[in-house]
Amino acid sequence: MNVTVFGTGYVGLVTGACLADVGHDVMCMDIDADKIAGLERGEIPIYEPGLEAMVKQNVAAGRLHFTTDAAKAVGFGKLQFIAVGTPPDEDGSADLQYVLAVAKTIGEHMSDYKVVINKSTVPVGTADKVRSAINSALEARGQQTEFDVCSNPEFLKEGAAIEDFSHGARIVVGTGSERVKALMRECYAPYNRLRDKLMFMDIRAAELTKYAANAMLATKISFMNEIANLAERLGADVEQVRHGIGSDPRIGYHFIYPGCGYGGSCFPKDVQALARTATQVEYHPELLNAVEAVNRRQKQTLFNKLMQAFDGDLQGKTIALWGLAFKPDTDDMRDAPSRMLMEALWEAGAKVQAYDPQAMRECRRIYGDRDDLILVADRIQAVKGADALAICTEWKDFRAVDLDWLKQQLATPVVVDGRNLFDPARVKQAGLLYFGVGRGDSLQ
Ligand code: UDX
Repeated sequence: MNVTVFGTGYVGLVTGACLADVGHDVMCMDIDADKIAGLERGEIPIYEPGLEAMVKQNVAAGRLHFTTDAAKAVGFGKLQFIAVGTPPDEDGSADLQYVLAVAKTIGEHMSDYKVVINKSTVPVGTADKVRSAINSALEARGQQTEFDVCSNPEFLKEGAAIEDFSHGARIVVGTGSERVKALMRECYAPYNRLRDKLMFMDIRAAELTKYAANAMLATKISFMNEIANLAERLGADVEQVRHGIGSDPRIGYHFIYPGCGYGGSCFPKDVQALARTATQVEYHPELLNAVEAVNRRQKQTLFNKLMQAFDGDLQGKTIALWGLAFKPDTDDMRDAPSRMLMEALWEAGAKVQAYDPQAMRECRRIYGDRDDLILVADRIQAVKGADALAICTEWKDFRAVDLDWLKQQLATPVVVDGRNLFDPARVKQAGLLYFGVGRGDSLQ
């Protein structure tokens, strides 16, 4: 099938590459000419395992094309995926200007039947707005062309996006049209062989499903962080509690890892946007607001523990930081816990000596050159001459550490572990002062 994807960000690029990889002819369109020129040369603007090879392979095979030409893009695909950003505006609601601009573009150029597919995370009711924007653009041209709008939210995790696209739990499609159902079935057939993962539902239900899924996962994390904070004060180890409750299949082991708060491009933004939607329909979102508030507080926890370890004075201290990305296997630092920690440390007069396997360039892009930010080449250099170590991301190579060596490197033997990577007893045995999240007596 011929498929057009608008937006070559994270979701658009993964969607385009994965659809081309199973044999569809895909054209990815973006208004950013530099980005498109880079992609044509095989340069991938984000770090996502497997994506670069997949893009290059499919470009070489002639199935994946890039363009900035809107008319060409609209003319190309019977399926028109909208996968552009929906950043939060000042009040936390999703800003739909990019989605609606694509809808207008489609209406300005289309001359035969299209299925317009909302892949971006958009508030309930957006499909209606997309339909109106296309209709207005068509009317302005005096054109009458048939089209359908459907919702097909993505459930991709950064760092595992290709795997999630290929073997996701479900493919949700919101539509009432049999014609759209048949076309979407054909589009996803290569990824729908083992069992039927396609779930057709009403458009509004599909739109809400995306938010509900992310809000539920964020709720699990905030709940667990609350239990961790409680465990810390009660002298219990939350990691044992996690095992204890996860074994109940009604609860499960997933997304109950306590830590220094959730970040990324989805959870913080989507929980806020859903709360905002609730307010707009005059419903007070008690739980969603609490999930967000607990997370905001959790992101301060590492800084508070460092303050505590240094008797409230971090002036002139150098803090080694392992992990800048909001989670492993990505270079994404959007809403990352590391950012809140670094900013608070700088405010308190401390220096940060940081290492991340992928996010160093992104960190430099965000913060620029500054004297109190030293980016180093590996985890070993990060702790050299530092007063304490803070861990924000559970990258694999942070897990096995010679703790006796670590003790020798740090001027004050303090380790603040936002991902509970170590066994507290073993860390203490090495003579380090260990502050995990919810690790029993770590406050004492
Ligand atoms: C998430 C959803 O998982 C995905 O389905 C959706 O499409 C987009 O949002 P992503 O943001 O890539 O994906 O990352 P995810 O692995 O879900 O982690 C989000 C954040 O939660 C990270 O900061 C992570 O460290 C944190 N987290 C996750 C926890 O603190 N504890 C957990 O148990 C799980």
